[in-house]
Amino acid sequence: MYIYWHLIMEPLLEIVQPRTIIEIGAERGDTTRPLLDFCQRHDATLHSIDPHPLFDWQNEPRLVMHRALSLQALPTIGACDACLIDGDHNYYTVFNELMLIGRNQPFPLTFVHDIGWPYGRRDSYYDPRNIPAEHRHQCVKMGLLPGLSALVPKGGFNANLWNARAENTPKNGVLTAVEDFMKATSLELELVTLPAFYGLGILFPKQLLQNQPFAEFIESLHVSPVMLRYMELAELLRLKQAARQAGEES
Ligand SMILES: C[S@@+](CC[C@H](N)C(=O)[O-])C[C@H]1O[C@@H](n2cnc3c(N)ncnc32)[C@H](O)[C@@H]1O
Repeated sequence: MYIYWHLIMEPLLEIVQPRTIIEIGAERGDTTRPLLDFCQRHDATLHSIDPHPLFDWQNEPRLVMHRALSLQALPTIGACDACLIDGDHNYYTVFNELMLIGRNQPFPLTFVHDIGWPYGRRDSYYDPRNIPAEHRHQCVKMGLLPGLSALVPKGGFNANLWNARAENTPKNGVLTAVEDFMKATSLELELVTLPAFYGLGILFPKQLLQNQPFAEFIESLHVSPVMLRYMELAELLRLKQAARQAGEES
């Protein structure tokens, strides 16, 4: 998610001035670090949730680390002003993360990674046993190629992860979870999507648009249909090139 930090996330956080931020999925701490610097500058607190953080998270005064699954940790944290979702990329997890986040008002400014290919419309599971069987799609540790619905037996993206065999089916994928949450909630929310680097969703209460700098920044993210198509094409070509490289290396 770090790739969006300077251009998108930091400016929006500067406008919203969150006092409490939740990060779901920290991994090596690449985004945790700038978030902690932000918290240091603004006297804010970061709650980072990851069952297996891969960085030294101790002795960070602004950080409360939750070594747990998001659906276990979120009810223990309470309200936040901003949230980053980049943990387990599947419908069940993301839909329920949003439900838990939405229990506190107002709904926070929320960044959701991986709303584009490959996990916008297809589930992935770090550990399928964490998802109730009735909410889990049939999955296998096989790779993905852009433009191909079927998983590939050799090479491809993320062959080390449990990927759903099917895509574009109901209750499947991160973007589907966000859309279904927006339909399920009575909250007035808006979603802005950016197609590059696996896709970023910016979900926020419409009320935030009354904040002029916030509204202007969001407005600046809107591009014409031609530019949008151009960006989607650039992302597709980037993915195809990366997939070729992954195939050569495997
Ligand atoms: C894609 S990485 C996160 C990358 C990070 N956001 C960044 O910007 O560098 C996903 C992380 O989510 C963690 N994870 C997996 N399932 C999770 C869950 N249910 N709740 C919270 N974190 C989870 C994994 O351990 C992994 O470290």
